[in-house]
Amino acid sequence: MKYRRLGKTDMNVSVIGVGTWQFGGEWGKNFEQSEVNDMFAAAKDCGINLIDTAECYGDHLSEEFIGAAIEGNREDWIVATKFGHKFHDLFTRDTIYEPAMILQQLEDSLKALRTDYIDLYQFHSGNDEMFQTEGLWELLQKQVELGKIRHLGISIGSNQNIFQTERASSVNAKTIQVVYNRLDRAPEEQVLPECIKQDLGVLARVPLASGFLSGKYTESAAFDKTDVRGNWMDDKARLDKITQAIEIKKTEVPEGVNMAQWALAWVLTNPAVTTVIPGCKTVEQVKSNAAAADLQMVSTEHPQAC
Ligand SMILES: NC(=O)c1ccc[n+]([C@@H]2O[C@H](COP(=O)([O-])OP(=O)(O)OC[C@H]3O[C@@H](n4cnc5c(N)ncnc54)[C@H](OP(=O)(O)O)[C@@H]3O)[C@@H](O)[C@H]2O)c1
Repeated sequence: MKYRRLGKTDMNVSVIGVGTWQFGGEWGKNFEQSEVNDMFAAAKDCGINLIDTAECYGDHLSEEFIGAAIEGNREDWIVATKFGHKFHDLFTRDTIYEPAMILQQLEDSLKALRTDYIDLYQFHSGNDEMFQTEGLWELLQKQVELGKIRHLGISIGSNQNIFQTERASSVNAKTIQVVYNRLDRAPEEQVLPECIKQDLGVLARVPLASGFLSGKYTESAAFDKTDVRGNWMDDKARLDKITQAIEIKKTEVPEGVNMAQWALAWVLTNPAVTTVIPGCKTVEQVKSNAAAADLQMVSTEHPQAC
């Protein structure tokens, strides 16, 4: 595993993390605690130290799984979670940014994670009006001073949200989380250069384009309503991603290279990116994704494995 300093924070994160939206039950699978324990044991063995979760992956459900899994070695992990939503039911949540309610969300996250501090607390993709909620960032700064939060971050909703990215340092946010992958390069235009300018750590999310860059799906792939790819994603958008991924597999992924690993390594070739946080559903996926840290890429513009 390789490690990088996460922006202006004092934290060194593994270049591959574990994304955990999956534990909330919106990816066509319900998890057992024992399986989650095995996934984090495998991640630790591979040198992964970064976990990304959120308040609304289930009603703090993903955080509960994580809390139970890492309770015995909490200090070894960098736990990134988020605030701004109230989960109601699968695929249904409200956005909530009133400071008093954020304070409650923070307490609920700490309880679920079985910890008294969060390493990275991220604004969860609210719009620009929510970002400017009166008193919000002052309240969060107070929690930093109290030691409940080590660092603040922003997970931007649109991956071209330059408004929030430009204001990150002014609200003491030290990281940006953004959708960035081989199928979606929009952040290269403004967001990633701005992150370099402010020395913000970058967590690249959805690095496998929701799994399609694993190369395992064909045009006839179907997802039911229990899977976000069959619920929130329309047929045309899904087919478009699959078709592009098939073409990239043919034209860009070297023979014999695992495409999911290639896709993660491709994201990491951008110098603005600190780490990728692929969502994982099995121990095998955790291990395979971790191995992407060892894949050597020769060019940022036209990456090929050596
Ligand atoms: N607004 C936000 O802040 C926000 C939004 C979205 C995501 N996130 C975070 O970013 C993380 C990553 O994004 P994501 O999970 O949406 O998308 P992703 O990482 O692009 O794709 C995840 C999916 O890819 C498949 N996969 C993972 N590893 C694989 C491997 N080695 N080989 C083959 N298939 C593999 C799995 O699904 P199948 O096996 O079923 O194909 C998995 O559910 C999330 O878990 C979450 O922590 C944050």
